[in-house]
Amino acid sequence: MKSIATKDSVLFLPDFDSFDYRQWSGLLENKVGITIPKERESFLQTKIWSRMRELGIETFSKYWDVINNGITGKLEWIELLDRLTVHETSFFRHKPSYNLVVNDFSNILNNNRKFHYKVWSVSCATGEEAYSLAILLQSLKSGIDKKNIYYGVTATDVSKPALTIAEHAYYNKEKLKGFDNDYKEYIKKVNPKIFTIDEKIKDRVAFGVFNLLKIEEMPTIKFDIIFCQNVLIYFTKEKKIKILEGFKRFLKSGGMLILNPADIGNWKSDNMTRITYKGTLAYKLD
Ligand SMILES: C[S@@+](CC[C@H](N)C(=O)[O-])C[C@H]1O[C@@H](n2cnc3c(N)ncnc32)[C@H](O)[C@@H]1O
Repeated sequence: MKSIATKDSVLFLPDFDSFDYRQWSGLLENKVGITIPKERESFLQTKIWSRMRELGIETFSKYWDVINNGITGKLEWIELLDRLTVHETSFFRHKPSYNLVVNDFSNILNNNRKFHYKVWSVSCATGEEAYSLAILLQSLKSGIDKKNIYYGVTATDVSKPALTIAEHAYYNKEKLKGFDNDYKEYIKKVNPKIFTIDEKIKDRVAFGVFNLLKIEEMPTIKFDIIFCQNVLIYFTKEKKIKILEGFKRFLKSGGMLILNPADIGNWKSDNMTRITYKGTLAYKLD
């Protein structure tokens, strides 16, 4: 039996055999596409068990029945999924990708046409990525005061609890590391440890739950930028390709898909042209 030592005692985890591993990792893969390799079995066991402890459930099979039982099971799944997904993120996390957005939006600003610039922050976790994008666009737009150009950021994630944090937008001041001084006007101090995002920026960001595995079922909205970073790594190659192909339907002609260079290897697809821009991995729809 596996055990965990805490400050005051030793806790014993209920057994988790290979059947349990297959059952729970299979559930996660079927519902959201995330694969937990056998080497990370103990991560799976510990995370599920920590939730079982809160509910006072002693065996994995009893918890399995809870998760798979009607509306209560669906609500419980939202809680568990939040434990099993990695929400690590930060403001302006991959600078070269943001530079590419600056480059693209600046071209639009130089154009005198009326324009509605739409960005999709896919898998935005607790919101830092979505707010970074909105802050960037707002600061560029205010710089030259263009009244005929609008922008909006649609931000989605599969985790409802992560999105609730995003909507509230209260962040620890540690998160300000790496935050450019020019953008500090878009944050508001709440107390010495906490800051929030200016209402002007919040108004430009809309959050919603979205499961990338269901990309084919999403109604089509066309974006100038699809910003998808640090999520495809959790999917199998087949699922990655399906998602990447699925994104094409959501791009305006000339719109860009900006990935993180670590997310995928070499992807080639009809009508998608690889863009060469310092340190980025991006594609433009012809
Ligand atoms: C590591 S975070 C990345 C956050 C942000 N994009 C960044 O780069 O900083 C990965 C996010 O992907 C989300 N995610 C995992 N599976 C997903 C799925 N099937 N559909 C949509 N989002 C998913 C997780 O909930 C998590 O918030």
